[in-house]
Amino acid sequence: MKIAVLSGDGIGPEVTGEALRVLDALGLPGLTVFEGDVGGIAYKRHGQPLPPETLTMAREADAVLFGAVGDPACDGLERALRPEQAILGLRKELELFANLRPAKVFPGLEHLSPLKGELASSLDLLIVRELTGDVYFGEKGERTASDGSREGWDMMRYSETEVARIARVAFRAARASASDGQGRVTNVDKANVLETSQVWRDTVREAAGSHPDIALDHMYVDNAAMQIISNPARFSVILTGNLFGDILSDLASAAVGSIGLLASASVGERRTAHGVFGLYEPIHGSAPDIAGTGKANPMASILSAAMMLRHSFALDDAAARIENAVARALADGARGRDLGGDAGTRAIGDAVIERL
Ligand code: NAD
Ligand code: IPM
Ligand code: MN
Repeated sequence: MKIAVLSGDGIGPEVTGEALRVLDALGLPGLTVFEGDVGGIAYKRHGQPLPPETLTMAREADAVLFGAVGDPACDGLERALRPEQAILGLRKELELFANLRPAKVFPGLEHLSPLKGELASSLDLLIVRELTGDVYFGEKGERTASDGSREGWDMMRYSETEVARIARVAFRAARASASDGQGRVTNVDKANVLETSQVWRDTVREAAGSHPDIALDHMYVDNAAMQIISNPARFSVILTGNLFGDILSDLASAAVGSIGLLASASVGERRTAHGVFGLYEPIHGSAPDIAGTGKANPMASILSAAMMLRHSFALDDAAARIENAVARALADGARGRDLGGDAGTRAIGDAVIERL
C-alpha cells in the first residue's frame, strides 16, 4: 500500500502531519509513505508547482494524501506557475474526475452548526462534484474589450461524455447510501441561463434512465445554495459541476460548523490492488492567515485519510475507527478556534489518537 504524501503549503503540512500520526497509530501493516513537493514550496525549490518527479510519485502510488496549496507570495506569478495549478494538474493528469465531498453534522454535535436544532441534525449530504472539466479547464485568456479596457474570459464547457460518467458516480453513490432503498440525487445546475447546463441537465436525465431505482430531481444552483441552509433534509446526493461544487461545498462546510471538518476523495476509473486509485484532501486551502500558528484544525485531513483507507485500501474498519475517534474527540471538547474552542493542531491530533 503505497501512499504519496503531498502536503504543500501553509497549514497543509501541519494538518497532514496529524493525519499521518493517526495512520501511524493504527499500526497498519504494509503501508509505505513517500513524500513529495507540491505547490508554492515546489515552485521555490524546483521552479514549478507540480514537478515531474512529484507527478510520477503520485502516479506510482495507490493513493495520494494531499494537504493544501496556495501562497499569497505567489499570487503575482503567471498562472502556469501558481501553486493552485499543482492540484488542478494532479486532478487532470490522474483523471480524477469525481470529487466526493460528504457534509454531515455528527450526531450529538448539532450545537457546532450555526443552523438551529432540527435543521442541523438533518444535514447529511454528499456533494458529487465533477473535477476535470467546466470553466476551470476551458480555454481562457485576456484581450482588449471593444471600449479599449482589459477583458478576461474563461470558456465554460461540458461534453455529454464528461457529464454521463460523473452522473453514473452520483447514481451509484445514491444507491449505496440509500438506507430505505430509495436513493435520491439532486442535480444542481444553471440550465435557465447556461447552454453548458442545458447539455448537462439533458445528459443527466438520460443517464437516469439506466438507474430507475434512483429518484432524480433538478434545481438551479442559486436555489440550491439557499435550500442547503433552509431545508438541508431535502438533499441526499448533490450532483453538480466543478465550479458550483466548489462553492456549494464551502457553503455546506459552514452549515456543518467549520471548513476544518470537511474531507474529500477524488477518484476516477483506475483501480488498484485493493480498491480505487484516489487523491484525498481536506476541502479547505492553505489558510495563510493562520499558517504557522498551530491553530489549524487537522480533522478534515484526518477524515480524508479515513476516506483513503475505505476507498483505496478497502480498510473499512480502520476508517470507521478514525471517524468514531474524531466524533468522540469533538464531543469531548477537542475543538479548535474554528469551532469556538482553544485546542491546537497537535492537541486535536492527540485527542483523536487517544480515542482510536
Ligand atoms: P482557505 O480554505 O485556505 O481559508 C479560508 C478561511 O478558513 C481562513 O480564514 C482560514 O483560516 C480558515 N480555515 C481553513 N482551513 C482551516 C482549518 N483546517 N482550521 C481552521 N481554520 C481553517 O481559503 P482561502 O483563504 O480562500 O485560500 C487560501 C489559499 O488556499 C489560496 O491560495 C487558495 O487558492 C488556496 N486553496 C487551496 C485549496 C487546495 O489546495 N485544495 C483549496 C482552497 C483554497
Ligand atoms: C478546492 C480549491 C481548488 C478548487 C483551488 C485551489 C484550485 O478551492 O479544492 O476546493 O477550486 O477546486
Ligand atoms: Mn474550494
